[in-house]
Amino acid sequence: MFPFVLGLVALWFIFRWYKETERVSNKENKYVYITGCDSGFGNLLARHLDKLGFCVIAGCYTEKGEDELKKTSDRLTAVHLDVTDSESVRKAAALIHTLVGQKGLWGVVNNAGVALPSGPTDWLTIEDYKSMLAVNLYGVIDVTLSVLPLIKKAKGRVVNVASVFGRISPFGGPYCVSKYGVESFNDSLRLNMAPFGVKVACIEPGFFSTNVTNTELVKDNLRKLWDRLPQDVKADYGHRFLEKSLEKLDERFKQFKDTDLMKVVSCMEHAIAAVHPRTRYTPGWDAKFFWLPLSYMPTCISDRIFLRNGPQPESSVL
Ligand SMILES: NC(=O)c1ccc[n+]([C@@H]2O[C@H](COP(=O)([O-])OP(=O)(O)OC[C@H]3O[C@@H](n4cnc5c(N)ncnc54)[C@H](OP(=O)(O)O)[C@@H]3O)[C@@H](O)[C@H]2O)c1
Repeated sequence: MFPFVLGLVALWFIFRWYKETERVSNKENKYVYITGCDSGFGNLLARHLDKLGFCVIAGCYTEKGEDELKKTSDRLTAVHLDVTDSESVRKAAALIHTLVGQKGLWGVVNNAGVALPSGPTDWLTIEDYKSMLAVNLYGVIDVTLSVLPLIKKAKGRVVNVASVFGRISPFGGPYCVSKYGVESFNDSLRLNMAPFGVKVACIEPGFFSTNVTNTELVKDNLRKLWDRLPQDVKADYGHRFLEKSLEKLDERFKQFKDTDLMKVVSCMEHAIAAVHPRTRYTPGWDAKFFWLPLSYMPTCISDRIFLRNGPQPESSVL
């Protein structure tokens, strides 16, 4: 019985692998719009899809990013885009409309994102939350809505870059809040768009080496948040808390950060180019084997693990 079941499982994996290797045709007539192409995953994806033959429209936050990408290919179109500014989003959508014409837009990849400020919840203000949600959540929604009619026309794809921290919240601040929001937007959009032949996929990476996980920037952000805290909150946490947090941060980033960004970019490419894309991709060993399994555990277990391994405030009752 056991070998038979094992054989069936193996057969299923072979069938899935075969099904997932098939790619869409006619790439040179398919336009893909990517946000946040100045650096990191977005930049690498723009170059990768261009090499594969897609017509890439790369949304860049800076002029430098735009100029550098333009130099890489004649086919690629770079456009200025600030996802927090609806006027900028609308202008980019109007340009895309003229570029794609009656064909519609094959794909949009909502990749632009920020990770700072991040810290314990009571170190932050509502403005800190609003500024990150403006990029990571409202930016995703605004960009998607701006091109959705074009995507429906092409029966195309929406790819949302969330994070494994859209599935579990091991630290405070707006990052996990924003990524949980992206997950929810992604799931309702997937259901709403299915009848129109539009496929929606979510990318949930673990820790990868990009600006978002730049150790020095993250540590600097924590020091700045500490410096602006009122005396009573500093007293609750105690002066050793900041030092211990910085040490833990170093340790965790060394332990988890993966330098192979292609693991994420390959998932994005699959979501855009495969005939049968998945609904979710979780690149990174830490995401697959640590964060995701932990997210399915009872809260009392995951809480205990986080509380045992994180630094504790001086006034802790635990
Ligand atoms: N790296 C990781 O470990 C990791 C893990 C999970 C999820 N993610 C997600 O992956 C996505 C890409 O991040 P990344 O890791 O590749 O980091 P990244 O290199 O910092 O890329 C983020 C991009 O978004 C751009 N951006 C920032 N604010 C913007 C705005 N208002 N409008 C338009 N673009 C804006 C940035 O431009 P500038 O460079 O000019 O600021 C940058 O090009 C993000 O959504 C991030 O949350 C990353």
